[in-house]
Amino acid sequence: MIGTASNGRTISITGLGCHVPERVLDNAELERLVDTTDEWIMERTGIRERRIAAPEEAMSDIALPACLRALENAGVEAKDIDLLVMATVTPDMSFPSTGAILADRLGAADAAAYDLSAGCTGFMYALAQAYGMLAGGLAQRALVVGGDVLSKILDWDDRSTLVLFGDGAGAVVMEPVAGGGFLGFELGADGGGGVHLWLPGSGSRHFDEPEKFVKMNGREVFKFATRILVQSAETLMERCGVTIDDVDVYIPHQANVRIIDHATKKLGIPSERVVVNVDRYGNTSSGSIPLALADAAADGRLRDGELVLMTGMGAGLTWGSALLEWTKEMAA
Ligand code: ACO
Repeated sequence: MIGTASNGRTISITGLGCHVPERVLDNAELERLVDTTDEWIMERTGIRERRIAAPEEAMSDIALPACLRALENAGVEAKDIDLLVMATVTPDMSFPSTGAILADRLGAADAAAYDLSAGCTGFMYALAQAYGMLAGGLAQRALVVGGDVLSKILDWDDRSTLVLFGDGAGAVVMEPVAGGGFLGFELGADGGGGVHLWLPGSGSRHFDEPEKFVKMNGREVFKFATRILVQSAETLMERCGVTIDDVDVYIPHQANVRIIDHATKKLGIPSERVVVNVDRYGNTSSGSIPLALADAAADGRLRDGELVLMTGMGAGLTWGSALLEWTKEMAA
């Protein structure tokens, strides 16, 4: 799927916030848990440390502070939100949705609220969906949240997945703006590749499977990731009539430094325009892109008029890109 809504309403991100659990798990500690080394993890992934939720912390506990920060940053109150989309594969529970739980905890009583599942691409899908609803006039102000607590569904004896992931969440407020804003989206899914990254015992098929931890064929996911990050971004740029030279800030899914380096080189974008924080957070799945956005904002890298390219990819297999001309000037 590729395109933009056509009724002329321009939509942008007007506030953003993020939150990660306090507990830091570094590679030295992982060396004591499984048969791995800091050297192996750094060389293959570039990840130094990640954040891990406390036993009592669930998805909504991590997403809530991110939402509050995003609302404050946008200068709006929860009661003014009429759409809340929570992208996650680790909800508090299957139902009620974490979106509904969050809306209640925030006091967003007038919001339609639900969860969206698209693996690590969830946040990109949620942005596109909120964009469509806002541009089409179905909603006036949306809160889009991406986050995961993958530490709860990892096999803590499996070195091949344990070292890759971390917990965290980010949130953005989206609303109509005077100009600029989102220029387009490119989204896709290849269910045939789903077997390469899946969660046994997590739904109505084989629900009684005793083992309920993430399974991944790392090499296949690596091949998919390196191909799709480039392909999706190039398709979208061509559709929007921009080139990589026009892109000021590139935010790829934070899965692995090797994957990011590959995409950076293939796209031909200077590394100083690329946002990388996977070294500090690991792969936070749906939290990855909003956490990187919030980091870029905190570093003063998101200035009015700048062009931001974001591309996510993950379980499904799914992918999604967005082009955004950064602006916070509200529509009259
Ligand atoms: N420490 C030490 N050795 C390890 C570890 C570890 N943590 N994990 C695996 N190994 C070993 C393997 O057992 C294997 O040993 P063998 O040669 O004796 O069999 C060896 O290291 C090489 O294993 P590979 O899987 O071939 O290593 P590779 O270079 O492919 O790197 C990695 C593995 C980092 C997982 C890589 O494949 C990758 O990054 N894949 C993409 C993963 C990803 O991005 N997933 C998430 C994307 S989607 C989403 O975000 C949910």
